[in-house]
Amino acid sequence: MTPLIEMKQVTKSYGEGNMKVVALHETNFQLNAGEFVAIVGPSGSGKTTFLTTLGQLQEPSGGKILVKGTETGNLTEKEKTDLRFKEFGFILQASNLIPFLTVKEQLDLIDRLDKDESSKSDRQELFDLLDLNKVQNHYPKALSGGERQRAAIARALYNNPSIVLADEPTASLDTQRAYQVTDMLASIAHEQGRGVVMITHDTRLLDKVDRVFIMNDGHLVEEIQA
Ligand SMILES: Nc1ncnc2c1ncn2[C@@H]1O[C@H](COP(=O)(O)OP(=O)(O)OP(=O)(O)O)[C@@H](O)[C@H]1O
Ligand SMILES: [Mg+2]
Repeated sequence: MTPLIEMKQVTKSYGEGNMKVVALHETNFQLNAGEFVAIVGPSGSGKTTFLTTLGQLQEPSGGKILVKGTETGNLTEKEKTDLRFKEFGFILQASNLIPFLTVKEQLDLIDRLDKDESSKSDRQELFDLLDLNKVQNHYPKALSGGERQRAAIARALYNNPSIVLADEPTASLDTQRAYQVTDMLASIAHEQGRGVVMITHDTRLLDKVDRVFIMNDGHLVEEIQA
């Protein structure tokens, strides 16, 4: 089976000369359909760098990334943008909501970009589950941190991406909602056969995932379960 996404010897550095920071050392990684994996590790260890490089939001400094078997290094910018839109759902640390659109309009925009109704999730179900009904006509600046995060989750999941990349999606949620969101990500992987990568600091949530990786100083190592 071709993995959903694969990293081969990928590295990522920032800056140049004596300012150079190696944020990601040679990394090999595979995510298969139906898998829910977690990334843990200290602040500044390279977790977000790994996730954004995996999601084609920034270029790797070295190595290759394959999405469903296609090497992304050879794609044009337009092809990469299409790939990101079609295959990936991002839930990022800095919530990537569009400031001048209400919660509901963030989803309307996706409808406008992709007219295929059948490729969408049930909006009402997402809003119910994420408790967004009351704030669907609010702009991001009028949302609490947790609401903003939940709106970003709704937006990321709305067009049913095959790969969901989530950077601390539960960071500003209460315990109950953190579990709900994690259960939702687990069911997306296990019941819908998609792939989910979640960065988290919350070790209580690790029971729900299939594999755990630890990032330390730019080195990604899989934790072997006992
Ligand atoms: N755009 C950038 N330019 C220069 N250095 C960067 C940039 N982004 C990240 N870094 C550096 O790369 C390293 C890894 O950062 P990264 O954001 O991936 O860490 P992280 O594990 O996600 O941390 P946190 O848990 O705090 O979010 C850090 O030393 C950081 O300072
Ligand atoms: Mg980070």
